[in-house]
Amino acid sequence: MIIAIDGPAASGKGTLAKRLAEHLGFHCLDTGLLYRAVGRDVAKRGFRLDDTWAAVGAARGLDPRSLDDPGLRGTAAGDAASIVARIPEVRAALLAYQRDFARQPPGAVLDGRDIGTVVCPEAEVKIFVTATPEVRARRRFAEFEALGLGLAYETVLQDILVRDARDAGRPNAPMVVAPDAMLLDTSNLSIEAAFDAAVGLIKRKIGQPGR
Ligand code: CDP
Repeated sequence: MIIAIDGPAASGKGTLAKRLAEHLGFHCLDTGLLYRAVGRDVAKRGFRLDDTWAAVGAARGLDPRSLDDPGLRGTAAGDAASIVARIPEVRAALLAYQRDFARQPPGAVLDGRDIGTVVCPEAEVKIFVTATPEVRARRRFAEFEALGLGLAYETVLQDILVRDARDAGRPNAPMVVAPDAMLLDTSNLSIEAAFDAAVGLIKRKIGQPGR
């Protein structure tokens, strides 16, 4: 069984995906990390982020073991990710890894922008998580503060707005709500309440899931 969680920057998809995967005993993949790591590797090799050849090379050579890197969390890594993510060949190079991951028994939760539309259009459950940009910026700002990254709220909000526009506006695999996705607006929900709401949506869609 595949659960696809998509949504804009800092909407809480990642936290929700992890909680659902733990609850169900499923595998979990934060696909944003793949694009963040490609951006990191292109920059590390001294190339421009929009250099197709360099970005495709980085995507093809990506070592999944290198995803556990605290340096991938910040705004610079997110911005770099959304630049390499515009390149169709980069997206194509990351597709097989994501699809293989999704097929692992007993099931998988993947979060990103195009999981329900491109990576796993066959997913049994698709949830599109939203929240207002201000709420998302406040949550991300608090996360950064907890990590000791002293970023201004305005900078965080700006990063979110720029990335949303880039992700929704790209011609290839843009961030859109899949026609069969269920919307979950978490603007006024705590993490716990968002989790409960998502479990409710899953039950409504497929009955009692998992263990
Ligand atoms: O955690 P946050 O929502 O801020 O971002 P992320 O999920 O780590 O994704 C970082 C960037 O990677 C996004 O802004 C997208 O440009 C890109 N991305 C994508 O294009 N497709 C995905 N399935 C996941 C991420």
